[in-house]
Amino acid sequence: MITRETIDKILDATRIDEVVGEFVTLKKRGVNLLGLCPFHNEKTPSFSVSVPKGIYKCFGCGKGGDAVSFLMEHEHYTYPEALRYLAGKYGVEIEEEKPSPEQQEVLDEKESLFNLSAFAQKYFHEKLLESDEGKAIGLTYLKERGYSMETVRKFGLGYALNQWDAFVQTALKNGYKKEYLEKTSLCKSKDHQLYDTFRGRVIFPIHNLSGRVLGFGGRILTSDKNKPKYINSAESDIYHKGRVLYGLFFAKSAMASSDNCYLVEGYTDVISMHQAGIENVIASSGTALSADQVRLIRRYTSNITLLFDGDPAGIKAAFRGIDLILEEGLNVRLVLFPDGEDPDSFALTRRPAEVRQFIQDNAKDFISFKTQLLLGETSNDPIRKAALIKEIAATIALIPEPIARTLYVQKCAELMQIEEKLLVTEVNKLRRKKLGGQQQAPQPEEDHLSVPQAERQGPVHDSNDWQEKEIIRILLNYGDKEIIFEVENEDKRMEEVPTRVSDFVVQDILEDKLDFENVQCRTIFQAFAEARESGASPSEQTFLNHPDQQIKSLAIDLQTSPYTYSSNWEDRHRIYVSREDEILKILVIEAVYSFKLKKLEKMILANQEHLREESSRQEKDQDKILRLMEKERDLKAIRSAFAKALNRVVTK
Ligand code: UTP
Ligand code: MN
Repeated sequence: MITRETIDKILDATRIDEVVGEFVTLKKRGVNLLGLCPFHNEKTPSFSVSVPKGIYKCFGCGKGGDAVSFLMEHEHYTYPEALRYLAGKYGVEIEEEKPSPEQQEVLDEKESLFNLSAFAQKYFHEKLLESDEGKAIGLTYLKERGYSMETVRKFGLGYALNQWDAFVQTALKNGYKKEYLEKTSLCKSKDHQLYDTFRGRVIFPIHNLSGRVLGFGGRILTSDKNKPKYINSAESDIYHKGRVLYGLFFAKSAMASSDNCYLVEGYTDVISMHQAGIENVIASSGTALSADQVRLIRRYTSNITLLFDGDPAGIKAAFRGIDLILEEGLNVRLVLFPDGEDPDSFALTRRPAEVRQFIQDNAKDFISFKTQLLLGETSNDPIRKAALIKEIAATIALIPEPIARTLYVQKCAELMQIEEKLLVTEVNKLRRKKLGGQQQAPQPEEDHLSVPQAERQGPVHDSNDWQEKEIIRILLNYGDKEIIFEVENEDKRMEEVPTRVSDFVVQDILEDKLDFENVQCRTIFQAFAEARESGASPSEQTFLNHPDQQIKSLAIDLQTSPYTYSSNWEDRHRIYVSREDEILKILVIEAVYSFKLKKLEKMILANQEHLREESSRQEKDQDKILRLMEKERDLKAIRSAFAKALNRVVTK
């Protein structure tokens, strides 16, 4: 048991930002630090860390606490485990009182599994480096593969002796229980005899985010076709395959600093790339990529580059991966390696600079990748082409973020040389299906792609109240996003002020006391205005599941239509994928100005009507007429100022 004195020392040394920062990328926001909450799935940061208070708090899911509770929650540590972790991190020496036998008994089961795994890792590693068999067979093999001693040590590689129960016997002698040997699948039992799972194999330990060993992969060294090439640990209370990425512990800081990561197939690819100096590499070894794994990656970066060997299995896996990554709102690029090569072989036979260059030169976005692969030489076959466009549209429709979707639509239209509007229609049709809106807004089941109808337009652009709808579309799609305004502060310096889109839009419109004519728009706007007072914002689902069918239908329309602006919008603004925040800012300002201009237009018309009435009276009220004329002049001046401002933004 850790003494009270030691606990106090540990807590005194602990800094919340350093502890949380190991797992979450934090950015400074005012006095606090802000990041994506690791406890729930979110795309805009609401996880806040206060260094002076030593606490964290998520405004999305409500989780909060200090460094110790963070580790218990996030790493599933017990209280003593969390303290030990912190003691290790801050170099505090632990003074212990011997636990009583009863206390020993209740030591958390997970901790036992972790302890046993750590013991096994050390054992295999020692056998590799020190036993005759390990050196002669295991180490020789790894060296022949091109691994340096430094690499072997860094990844804690090991060797399992080619004996029936060498490990089991050692573990039992060291007091590890049979129960846990079986639960970690380090041993199996046959006729009440325990034997080793890993025999005559090199061992790749698998670490969690904080570097603790959870499980192992063991590679065979003979070419025995009857035995599996790899044996991997089974799932256990500490090892959930879908929630672990091989190499993440070693890659996470490089992933955050480079804002990108390379996803490869397995252990050997990760290790070889590391040895070539490319450290932001991880693998979903053994299983297909899962949504949980993608969310794990998102804590460090939103950009994933898939590195695959060009065989059919690799390509199939890449396709599945692409859809999953896009659906989670991350960006994906792909690199195929030349025939017969994988990242492992490639990295070991080239200089690091060459490897980097190759990846840089060959990384493709998914549209180019799919087009190139699926279309091949039959690009003139209209049937093949239509099928491919559908396929790509289906992938684009998975992307939750409207701006990103729009950009990919443009890219695809350009590459396939088809009308952009057709593709928009196709993508929107698929998104409606996905959002469950097909009952409200039935779509004709004809094939838009083979029956070109050039004049199809989005539901927003062609209505006469599109300015109102555009405001609502922006609130629904981007309300929670931030845009940065440059504001002059007291010292006359320019300061960047991050502002939530919904706050900006709602405040701007309320200040001018402008109202919506479209009843549904008004209702949705009011919901945002009310939510703003409580600092929250209505969720996407609020309106998609709204009891009022018309509101529901409008919300679906607006969330499936990336288009409102005129067709040369992207030329005027020179859109680049990498400047999504800039695009958003322009989009928001443009929408607000357009909305206000439209309102002004109406006020001017109403005023003119009024003026006409007054002027046609028998007994004219000259004062009133004069006031109306002044008002017209004022309104027109504002209109012209707005139009100029809008023009400035639009033709920047
Ligand atoms: P490879 O077959 O390329 O493994 O699979 P390797 O060890 O690199 O073999 P050689 O030397 O190229 O022939 C790549 C990754 O797929 C996973 C492992 O993580 C491996 O690193 N894998 C492969 C398994 O999990 N199980 C298997 O049976 C095979
Ligand atoms: Mn390989």
